[in-house]
Formats: sequence, C-alpha cells, structure tokens
Amino acid sequence: MSYETLLVEQRGAVTLIQLNRPQALNALSSTVMKELIDAFAKFEADDSQGAAVLTGAGEKAFAAGADIGEMADKPATEFFAQAFFDGWQKGIASVVRKPWIAAVNGFALGGGCELAMMADMIIASEKAKFGQPEIKLGVAPGMGGTQRLTRAIGKAKAMDLCLTGRMMDAVEAEKSGLVARILPAEGFVDAVVAIATEIAGMPRLAALLNKEMVNVAFETTLEQGLLYERRTWGILAATEDKAEGMKAFVEKRPAVWKGK
Ligand code: CAA
Repeated sequence: MSYETLLVEQRGAVTLIQLNRPQALNALSSTVMKELIDAFAKFEADDSQGAAVLTGAGEKAFAAGADIGEMADKPATEFFAQAFFDGWQKGIASVVRKPWIAAVNGFALGGGCELAMMADMIIASEKAKFGQPEIKLGVAPGMGGTQRLTRAIGKAKAMDLCLTGRMMDAVEAEKSGLVARILPAEGFVDAVVAIATEIAGMPRLAALLNKEMVNVAFETTLEQGLLYERRTWGILAATEDKAEGMKAFVEKRPAVWKGK
C-alpha cells in the first residue's frame, strides 16, 4: 500500500518507514499518525519482518513536532472530543511488540522527540537535535514528553529542556541517556538498518520478551520487576530456540533459529 505521508520498504527482515513531508520538516499531522498506525500494524502482522526502523525523509529532520498548522485554530473542545493525541499511544507505543528503532537524522522536536522516545532505542546521527520547545507555543508536550523524557534523562535535564525549550545535540543526548548510539551522518540510515537486521536475526520470541521485560522496568517496583523477569525467563527456557541456542554454543556452531 502506498501512503500520502510515509515511504515504507522492506529491506530483508527489516521494515524501513520514512516520515515523508520534508517540506514541513516531517511535521506530524493526523494523517501521519493514521498512516503510521497502519504501517506499524502491517509490520507487526508480517512474519517475515523482525524489526523496524523509523526515520525522516530529507536532510534536515526526523520530525519537527506535531503539525502546528493543523493545531493553530483548533478549538480546545475538538482536541478533547477527537482524542487528538491518543492514537500515538494506543495505536503505536503500546501495541508494537516487535523491536523498532528511531533513527534520528536531524531535528526531533516536540512530538518528533516524543515519537522517537516511543521507540525501543534511539540511534542518532551526529546531526541530530532533540528538544521539547512546546512552551514557546504556549503549551507543553502532549505525546509523552514530560513523562518519557523525565524517565529517560531525569528531572534536572527534562525540566531544563521543557522550561527553556532549548535543543540538545546528539552528544549531550547520548551523555544524558536518551540516545543509545551516535553514528556518522554519511550512510546513517543504512547503518541503522544494519543494526536492525542484527536484531531481526535474533530468536524472535527472545526479542519480543527482552523488549517487554525492559519496558516492565518502567512500570513497576524492583521486586515485582525481578519476579516478572524470572517468570518470563521461564517461558523462554521452554522454547525450541533456547534448546537450539545452548546446543549450538556447546557444539561451537551457529544457531539456527525457529522463532518458537
Ligand atoms: N508544524 C508545521 N510546520 C512546520 C513545523 C511544525 N512543527 N516545523 C517546521 N515546519 C515548517 C515551517 O513552517 C516551514 O514551512 P514553510 O516553508 O511553508 O514556511 C518548513 O517546515 C521549514 O521550517 P523553517 O523554515 O522554520 O526551517 P528552519 O531551518 O528555519 O527552522 C526549526 C527549523 C528550528 C525546526 C523550526 O522549523 C521550528 O522551530 N519548528 C517548530 C518546532 C516546534 O515548535 N515543535 C513543537 C510543535 S508542538 C508539538 O509537538 C506538540 C506536542 O507535544 C504533541
């Protein structure tokens, strides 16, 4: 299926999704949200696909935020009646079980930074810039910024970014714990797809459950999280891939994964 605001392609076992409104710095309109929900649902349903990469088309931006043009004249009651931002959480962040990476190639501001933080991992190009500048528009983050950014980089820096609206470069973002790795701008997307390909080549159930287990750490106490980890480990211990992985190690040969 072709989209108005996205480019989607499969590179082997990796789905590469590009936000494709470069003339508006890939601003996140309602159409982008609806199409992304659809693209992620198709990725999720396709057994040939093991990981996804989300990036922005054009040289400048991952996404420069929610679409200000769309929001400027919208009455407050309509944001509420339409549950304007709900789809990001309900259609993407809480439903995608397979691993996906945000490849931040430029500006990730406002909703762009918030969308990147919904990913399992952010990989930044050396040109990436992150920020929550909503205060300068008289509002605040509305797609998770105050919550996810604070959990990712702590109160001091989250307050700094939200209250001043300033941008943080890739080096500061990596030092702060927002970004997993910084890669050169040259060949950036291909390099992230290579990392996603490595992840897609892992035993599938182990990938799903490693992701789920790390995410549980944000939702619960240490004691409950550790219990969750031990119980979930038990599920993995019952898989054919566990038997194969350990046997292959002992026999000093590559494992052949079945995804069950
Ligand atoms: N929404 C709609 N259009 C946007 C946009 C956005 N968030 N960000 C940029 N654009 C458009 C610009 O209007 C401009 O369009 P025109 O050529 O038609 O005028 C085009 O993209 C290029 O932008 P600039 O000319 O501004 O490019 P620049 O290089 O001079 O500046 C920038 C780049 C600093 C990122 C600047 O574009 C900017 O500040 N953008 C807005 C960032 C922002 O405030 N984001 C938060 C949005 S609110 C939000 O996201 C709410 C939420 O939490 C859910």
